[in-house]
Amino acid sequence: MRIALVGAGQIGAAHARRLVALDAVTELLVADGDPDRAAALAAISPKATHVSADDAFGAGVDGVVITANTSAHAPLLHRALDAGVAVFTEKPIALDVPTTRAVVEHAAARPDVPVQIGFQRRFDAGYLAARDAYRSGSLGFVHTVHATTYDVSPPPAAYIPTSGGLFKDCSIHDVDAIAWLTGRQAVSVWGTGSNMGADFFRDGGDVDTCNALITYDDEMTALVSATRYHGSGHDVRLELHGSADSRFVGLDDRAPLVTAEDPAALSWTPAEPYQTYHQRFEAAYRAELATFVDVAAGRAPSPCTPAEALEALYVAEACGISMREHRPVTIAEIRES
Ligand SMILES: NC(=O)c1ccc[n+]([C@@H]2O[C@H](COP(=O)([O-])OP(=O)(O)OC[C@H]3O[C@@H](n4cnc5c(N)ncnc54)[C@H](O)[C@@H]3O)[C@@H](O)[C@H]2O)c1
Repeated sequence: MRIALVGAGQIGAAHARRLVALDAVTELLVADGDPDRAAALAAISPKATHVSADDAFGAGVDGVVITANTSAHAPLLHRALDAGVAVFTEKPIALDVPTTRAVVEHAAARPDVPVQIGFQRRFDAGYLAARDAYRSGSLGFVHTVHATTYDVSPPPAAYIPTSGGLFKDCSIHDVDAIAWLTGRQAVSVWGTGSNMGADFFRDGGDVDTCNALITYDDEMTALVSATRYHGSGHDVRLELHGSADSRFVGLDDRAPLVTAEDPAALSWTPAEPYQTYHQRFEAAYRAELATFVDVAAGRAPSPCTPAEALEALYVAEACGISMREHRPVTIAEIRES
């Protein structure tokens, strides 16, 4: 299959390596606004060549993977839909509701063109097992969820004003994972945030740490927590607490859980903690892209649709408004705005 990749930056380079490793991908066409960057990335494999953006959406392309900057996602998605080419895009579709809705509507008008959004937690073995446990009913009623996304250190300062803020950039993964895992709908949120680190977060209108209490339609409560500062390691975990049982996702030897008790009393030896999301989610990213190749080949439906991504955006948007305005915000308020 001929797969095109548009956006040869940080995650584009990693996804390109993952794509050329797939047997089903016989050719990878790499495009970027900066042709030198596309050429440099195309050098990673004899399967890869660099092309113009026009060629990435041209005849004979079986699927397009969008890894460009967030502001380019929606225009490129419209282009793929117009060209009738199956498309995967990194999250988010866009940082605002109207632009995201326009993509959802365009996709609904082209049901013949599969669109997959990149929420890779849906492909992580732990999240999948927790979903099975939740849906089996063996946990009883799940009253509380803790979802954690802690980066070790901040991204470059220049990224912050383009990120959409910490809720939309990071917590949106947790928001999507909880909805996908439980099938419950968020009803209202309370968001908070703080700036104890570098000034560029405040200057960019963002926070370096955020927390949201989200209430769901069955009264389940989730504490969704994210930070750019977590020196002990990259910590992405999810806890389901039920009346009958609980499940912890991400509780492995590399989880950066530093005991306050005597470490010698542990029955396992903690390994080198994760430092990046690439380390934490390598297997999930590979499974996600392998699934997209199946989706593009018509062998599978999209496992993460634009409409589901819009639902996650509603919640992240509500969290940001709640934080800024110091009040609870209902999802209905955002949905109906
Ligand atoms: N799912 C995840 O865990 C995850 C992790 C990191 C980044 N992301 C998402 O991936 C996207 C890219 O992030 P990144 O860190 O790789 O960014 P980056 O800045 O490293 O790379 C973006 C690349 O896209 C290119 N580009 C921009 N507009 C383009 C256009 N219209 N056509 C072709 N190329 C274009 C740029 O020249 C650049 O090379 C972001 O939307 C981000 O939210 C997702």
